[in-house]
Amino acid sequence: MTIIKTIEKLKQTIRQTKGSIGFVPTMGALHEGHISLIKKARLENDVVVVSIFINPTQFLAGEDLDKYPKKQEADEKICEFSGVDILFTPNINTMYSQDEVLIKAPILKSYTLEGQRRPEHFDGVLRIVLKLFNLVQPTNAYFGKKDAQQLSLIKQMVDDLFLDVNIIECEIIRQKDGLALSSRNVYLDNKQRQLALNISLSLRIASDMVAKHNMDCEKIIEAMKKVMDSLDIEYIAIVDRKFEKLDFCELKNTIILVAVKIDKIRLIDNIWI
Ligand code: PAF
Repeated sequence: MTIIKTIEKLKQTIRQTKGSIGFVPTMGALHEGHISLIKKARLENDVVVVSIFINPTQFLAGEDLDKYPKKQEADEKICEFSGVDILFTPNINTMYSQDEVLIKAPILKSYTLEGQRRPEHFDGVLRIVLKLFNLVQPTNAYFGKKDAQQLSLIKQMVDDLFLDVNIIECEIIRQKDGLALSSRNVYLDNKQRQLALNISLSLRIASDMVAKHNMDCEKIIEAMKKVMDSLDIEYIAIVDRKFEKLDFCELKNTIILVAVKIDKIRLIDNIWI
């Protein structure tokens, strides 16, 4: 595995690369969820590139960028064991300059749900993902369905800006008891973790309702709220794959999303139906 820190070296290496490039952009603190993306990229491409960059522009003022977990050594080992060819770990000064050209996420779809609590967050995500795509020139780029709104906006950016990259949607990885993997799970103590299980339970109940042809979104949301009555629910939303709100679930075109807070720990999860 080659570790690259500079743009020049990355460009030079990419120019010499032959065959398909599978790309997994990350902010580090890699867990099984990331590993599953890397493994899929490894299976489907000649060359696998992973980036680790804690992107400041997607954090808002007051969000503690400095507290974002950093596990450089462990991350490097994980990449090495998972068969990564190129690990790109730029520092902040190389990725951004003063007064640069900006990209804006679509207003209607980026200021709702995650974007309502974190306005401009998705501007920052698209800004860095576009830069990384331009540098890495991937054939296929891998994103988890867990960040469903991010995934949808990245797909829209690829369509709207005519980018030449396939976005590969990857399944959510869960622990045996249903908890979706997240870098934030490490902050949960036993009691909080127990409470967090109600999130995936509520999604299972929702999917059971749909399996029994109960498609009414209002009723599904009501049932989910009951299961999560001990949690501080930020939102439950039922949308189609383009993130338009639905009144009735549509098979193969529905995403049911949840965001909750357990004490100060914010968790999101979703299910694709
Ligand atoms: O999902 C993430 O880890 C980040 O939002 C991404 C896509 C790496 C951009 O910084």
